[in-house]
Amino acid sequence: MTTPSFPSLLATVTSELKEEGYVFLPAPETVALLQHYGLSHWDQFSDSWNHLGVDQYMADGGLYRRRRYATFSIETDHVTRKKHQPHYQSRDYNLLNGGIERWFSPIEDTIGNHSALAAILKTAAHVANSLTPETRKPQSWHAEVHQFRIEADPHTQGRPTPEGMHRDGVDWVFVFMIRRENIREGVTSIHALDQKTQLGAFTLAHPLDAAFVNDHRVYHGVTAVEPVDPNKPAYRDVLVVTLRYE
Ligand SMILES: [Fe+2]
Repeated sequence: MTTPSFPSLLATVTSELKEEGYVFLPAPETVALLQHYGLSHWDQFSDSWNHLGVDQYMADGGLYRRRRYATFSIETDHVTRKKHQPHYQSRDYNLLNGGIERWFSPIEDTIGNHSALAAILKTAAHVANSLTPETRKPQSWHAEVHQFRIEADPHTQGRPTPEGMHRDGVDWVFVFMIRRENIREGVTSIHALDQKTQLGAFTLAHPLDAAFVNDHRVYHGVTAVEPVDPNKPAYRDVLVVTLRYE
């Protein structure tokens, strides 16, 4: 099967996102979009998930989440990294860990400047721009980029979204699978604003399987992960990019 051209793929993705409030992209489609913006050196990019810092702010006491964080400004196809800053979510959006400024380790410079990340940010902004009416289009998007690793062991489940079904409190959310190592479960589900009606469920199973979400229209959550083989390291690596108006 041949992958459709960039314009027709983008049209399909944006129309589904507009229709449903979210869209699941299998890896070949994500790759086709990102290649348009110069995706390369994926192995170097994904290897950086082996060098994250422990998230010290987990209100459930868990030390099973590793992460790095950075913010960027995206103006058309121009991406600029911002000064390192804390991540803040109000408790309206994150009852578990919200309400405080959380300082995470910065994303390493080589990754902040990486062609794969640039391709991801430009694709995200392109999708968001195509779904934003001309009169509301921001001068630039404020992008928050999170590298996450959720670890699981036989005694502790890894919870990708410990706050449960939630919205991020932004405009758009883009989730890219990086790697699943020796884990099962980790099913993403999408719910309507009543938080009860399930609109969809899927598993980001392969590197670069992705989900694009309109944060105003739907809730999202991911089930806990557990090791397949209890004697081996088990983890789920993802990249989350959020966009909001500057
Ligand atoms: Fe989220």
